[in-house]
Amino acid sequence: MTTHFSPVTKDQLAEIMLVENACHSHPWSEQTMLSCIGGRYFGFMLKQEQSILGFYIGEYVAGEATLMDVCVSPDHQGKGYGKQLLIHFTEQAKSLGATQLFLEVRAKNISALMMYINWGFVEVGRRTGYYPSNIGYEDAIVMKKKL
Ligand SMILES: CC(C)(COP(=O)(O)OP(=O)(O)OC[C@H]1O[C@@H](n2cnc3c(N)ncnc32)[C@H](O)[C@@H]1OP(=O)(O)O)[C@@H](O)C(=O)NCCC(=O)NCCS
Repeated sequence: MTTHFSPVTKDQLAEIMLVENACHSHPWSEQTMLSCIGGRYFGFMLKQEQSILGFYIGEYVAGEATLMDVCVSPDHQGKGYGKQLLIHFTEQAKSLGATQLFLEVRAKNISALMMYINWGFVEVGRRTGYYPSNIGYEDAIVMKKKL
């Protein structure tokens, strides 16, 4: 079945939140998600017919784009969709004028870390105990990719 990208708009908030809640141990609230749709934010969903396989939310400010959120529905992980979303984010960021990409990732999120490293992101910083986790707090790794 073919897949396609379509922009995230406020109309898809409920569907997006289903994927968000299924993917993250500490998901964004609906309010946070809503505040990251439109304005300086850009987001796309990867869809197969009408169902959402995954989505990302990026932010563009003054030549820098930040990947704020990316997730693939648990049923569809490990099939290359995360990488497709990352490539799409990179292309959109470039078209907006970005020369650098940034993101933050949980230190123990090995699949995401590997995906970013394989796409050319490098660690540029660490925020100790930044994320709440099921066992206390977890470091955030700050990563950057030059375009
Ligand atoms: C991170 C996430 C988006 C990856 O999406 P995915 O569709 O499963 O990833 P892909 O199948 O496209 O794989 C892309 C790359 O990720 C890495 N990867 C994916 N799963 C992996 C695993 N279990 N172990 C190690 N590396 C893995 C690999 O480098 C892979 O590239 P390769 O297949 O060429 O080796 C997905 O696991 C997810 O939604 N996780 C929950 C939400 C999340 O953690 N988001 C990131 C927040 S920073």
